[in-house]
Amino acid sequence: MTAEHTLRADALRLAYDRREVVKGLTVTIPPGKVTMVVGPNACGKSTLLRGLARLLAPVSGGVFLDDRDVHDIPNRELATVLGILPQTPVAPEGITVADLVGRGRYPHQGWFRRWTAADDAAVAEALAATNTLEVADRPVAELSGGQRQRVWIAMALAQRTDLLLLDEPTTHLDITHQVEVLDLLTDLNRAHGTTIAVVLHDLNLACRYADHLIALRGGEVVAQGGPTEVVTADVVERVFGLRSRIVPDPVSGTPMVVPIGRHHCPEGETP
Ligand SMILES: Nc1ncnc2c1ncn2[C@@H]1O[C@H](COP(=O)(O)OP(=O)(O)O)[C@@H](O)[C@H]1O
Ligand SMILES: [Mg+2]
Repeated sequence: MTAEHTLRADALRLAYDRREVVKGLTVTIPPGKVTMVVGPNACGKSTLLRGLARLLAPVSGGVFLDDRDVHDIPNRELATVLGILPQTPVAPEGITVADLVGRGRYPHQGWFRRWTAADDAAVAEALAATNTLEVADRPVAELSGGQRQRVWIAMALAQRTDLLLLDEPTTHLDITHQVEVLDLLTDLNRAHGTTIAVVLHDLNLACRYADHLIALRGGEVVAQGGPTEVVTADVVERVFGLRSRIVPDPVSGTPMVVPIGRHHCPEGETP
């Protein structure tokens, strides 16, 4: 099992130039659990994740890992505890899959960057878990969007951090691969106790896979808690401006959002 670490944001404000995007958020990523961050486009989900991973400096408030300000933690130390897969990662030109995944091991190597058997094992396991072994020798640039996405996930897995933040890891994936990735993250959480926080667009999959949900709108938290507490028709309307019916997911029993558009009307209601 991994050591448990608690990551939290306290009255966190993040801005680009002077435009504030995250407006005083206080959230805790519960240790050993899977957290999903949901909310409409441009509400600040990626910005929050970047702030949590120390890729953006707060305007005010702070981010704390086990009560230490993340800005006081040396880079290498932070990178062995916390990994992040950004929304649109950029691969170095010409790099192969195996080399890219191998970069996930950098924080674990000493000053001399000596590659060890443990590094080989971590890379091989990450490639196998993400079903990317067969493309290990190919240049990343030649892969399909879905394959590339799985390679990035492999790199994040190879880092073997106790805390893993992933920004829309299922983008570009077909439904089968989306479920596979979420199953894989759940396996990781169950087998190693890895704390996982994911930005996800699909509310219904988020409800299925999350222990904890954080719903954002306009850089503020609208609701947080278990999926059943958070995902109500009222919250969906407040967060997404969407009328919906909430029914139990027939497979998992978790809340399932059925949208009501302008062209359909639930039985017994007038549009
Ligand atoms: N690098 C950046 N520079 C300036 N503005 C940005 C940058 N990244 C995001 N933004 C703006 O911040 C807001 C929130 O963006 P983001 O956190 O990416 O939203 P989400 O991930 O919820 O879609 C958006 O209005 C977006 O245009
Ligand atoms: Mg985003």
